[in-house]
Amino acid sequence: MRNILKINVLGCLFLLMMLPVQAKSVSLSTTEKVQLEKEKKMNRFLDDLLKKMTLEEKIGQMSQALLDWSPDKNPLDPGSDGGKDLRLGRVGSIFNVAGVDVSYKLQKIAVEETRLHIPLIFGFDVIHGLKTVFPLPLAEAASWDLSAIERSARIAAVEASAMGIHWVFSPMVDIARDARWGRIAEGAGEDPYLGALIAKARVRGYQGDDLSKNNTVVACAKHFAAYGAGIAGRDYNAVDLSERQLREVYLLPFKAAVEAGAGTLMASFNTVNGIPASANSFLLRKILKEEWGFDGFVVSDFESVKELVAHGYAENEKDAARLAANAGLDMEMKSNTYRNELLKQVEAGLVSEKVINEAVRRILTIKYRLGLFEDPYRYCDANREKTELLTPEHIRAARDMARKSIVLLKNENNTLPLKKDIGKLAVIGALADSHDMLGCWGGLGDQKDVVPILQGIKAAVSPNTEILYSHGCELESKTPEDFTEALNVARQADQIIMVMGESAGMTGESQSRIRIDIPGNQEALLKEVMKLGKPVVVLLTNGRPLSIPWEAEHVPAIVETWFLGIQTGNAIADVLFGDCNPSGKLPVSFPYNIGQVPLYYSELSTGRPKAEKPDDPFRSRYADATNDAVYPFGYGLSYTTFEYSNLRTDQPVLPMKGSIKISVDVKNTGNCSGEEVVQLYIRDLSASVCRPVKELKGFQKLFFESGETKTVQFVLTPENLNYYDANMKWRVEPGTFTVFVGGNSRDVLKTNFQLN
Ligand code: GLC
Repeated sequence: MRNILKINVLGCLFLLMMLPVQAKSVSLSTTEKVQLEKEKKMNRFLDDLLKKMTLEEKIGQMSQALLDWSPDKNPLDPGSDGGKDLRLGRVGSIFNVAGVDVSYKLQKIAVEETRLHIPLIFGFDVIHGLKTVFPLPLAEAASWDLSAIERSARIAAVEASAMGIHWVFSPMVDIARDARWGRIAEGAGEDPYLGALIAKARVRGYQGDDLSKNNTVVACAKHFAAYGAGIAGRDYNAVDLSERQLREVYLLPFKAAVEAGAGTLMASFNTVNGIPASANSFLLRKILKEEWGFDGFVVSDFESVKELVAHGYAENEKDAARLAANAGLDMEMKSNTYRNELLKQVEAGLVSEKVINEAVRRILTIKYRLGLFEDPYRYCDANREKTELLTPEHIRAARDMARKSIVLLKNENNTLPLKKDIGKLAVIGALADSHDMLGCWGGLGDQKDVVPILQGIKAAVSPNTEILYSHGCELESKTPEDFTEALNVARQADQIIMVMGESAGMTGESQSRIRIDIPGNQEALLKEVMKLGKPVVVLLTNGRPLSIPWEAEHVPAIVETWFLGIQTGNAIADVLFGDCNPSGKLPVSFPYNIGQVPLYYSELSTGRPKAEKPDDPFRSRYADATNDAVYPFGYGLSYTTFEYSNLRTDQPVLPMKGSIKISVDVKNTGNCSGEEVVQLYIRDLSASVCRPVKELKGFQKLFFESGETKTVQFVLTPENLNYYDANMKWRVEPGTFTVFVGGNSRDVLKTNFQLN
């Protein structure tokens, strides 16, 4: 918003200058006038400050240190290297700072003991909550509930700012279509449209409507760019893709975050078409700063500037500093090539002072907008730290978000919801009694605050229900195990709940895996339990799509529960026993087998689509498996059922300068109320570049009473149908489009319209 406003204001200024004197003046709204004055005041302040700064102090602002208490690094100790760097103004930011006390002490040194008193900016990995840990970002994406996602980020911002943090390294907006990649857990899944909306929601949640408020923090959209497209799903691996794929898929959520006003971005570890993202001027300058008008700053990822040498892109660290700075990488995280080498590069004329000044101005602009110059201690309110963390309101919100993130994958014969009074209930699985439910990047979350699944179930059932528990088997055992104890427990039960999946540590950074089936002997145990012929429900805990074809075929009820944060057990129990009707929809496709990966719904048709001639072997297919996902993008069931009918458009033609209304009737045909995510996809049937068989272009999450029918309406304009044509021109072409509407990306109604 700010960027657009800035361009409007500057645009108006330009018009004012260009107009002949006698022409009427361009009127600015009051808001624009106020914003203009604020920007002018800030620029005067920054101009003045930059004039006073030495080159070394400027480069100091471009250097971010990791908080390190080791004796030679301890920043509080004036005699340590870290302490000297801080006092000499050679550090502009420190990350992993959390806690009012340490935030205040460090800031006090910067403000009182450096020559120009420039405040520090403190960053922290707040990815899905700080003390009140919410579900994994991928789980939150499964809610398709943008206001709930925004609220989750808002609460994270309240808690982070209450602990002296100014800047969160979030949202992670990397599109991910490869389940081998462990960091798929941290983003919003495979689709750019959904990913872009979630990116905006999270930036709004973190930054609020005024960065200078002390309960807002500056966001950091990461990892720029295309980090999720690493070859073979291997973390940090090279990315090679067309500019069209880059722009239409991987950059879309970043552009959305910038449009939402994200103050910073983080460059990624990977190369993009042979050039490391941390020194990629096509990304950092041409696209981000010139085309998109981004006026914040870009921080590297952890030592990713120094890693330019390992990439074989820089000869040495001196070269790395030069290449990254010239490419538009404003702040270096953790490694010290800027601090150690950049001054010499400038003195040698290899990096212009203009480049330095631009980077420093961007960094100081964010510090200014945070209000840190006005009051460097505005985030050091000890009372807030005591009263605003893990509040009952935050915990309730975490439970609500967790409930919304749960996806019901299968529910044969209405196995679910279970009655609370069900005699003997067996709960089997190591993960059932585990506090390790925060998932990767759990911030400062404390596992003691987690409600395990077993605890949530115990709290929910009636006093007459007897809970039997068995650890079952290890999560990742490579050798056969004795299932006697688990089977004894199962034999006594009237109902069995199997909790299965990955451990929280099996996804996240550096957790790429070549297998995505359920690890260890868990499935073998399930098969033994199933032989008992008792009703079984499987709860999945995982951070990536899992390959579960056997479960999908044989188990009557399957619930995707991801890693749901501190309220895991309560939220799962709410769904299991019907206090909450599940409404989640998958933001990623669940492959039948790892061999299909990367797998995503918006693929190209090919010249031999299998769907056209399923029995013809000479089609784009596997000889030994299906092409399809076991559970497709957008899929999720409810305890009620929804029927779609009467898909129609208000006119057969969408005019180039108009819009078209698409309507569909949706009826709740079940006997309980529930929410449905009505999804709209399109296909451009023929274009100068082949287009995907489906592209998500709209969704509405709506509540229906039992028996209620709603006419759900979407409006499409030609701008919604834009793509990069054969000459990489962003435009829409006349032609025939198919529009699909349904409760997931596979089971849809369809109709056509013309654009011309
Ligand atoms: C890590 C991650 C990044 C994180 C940063 C700081 O390597 O790639 O997401 O924000 O370093 O911890």
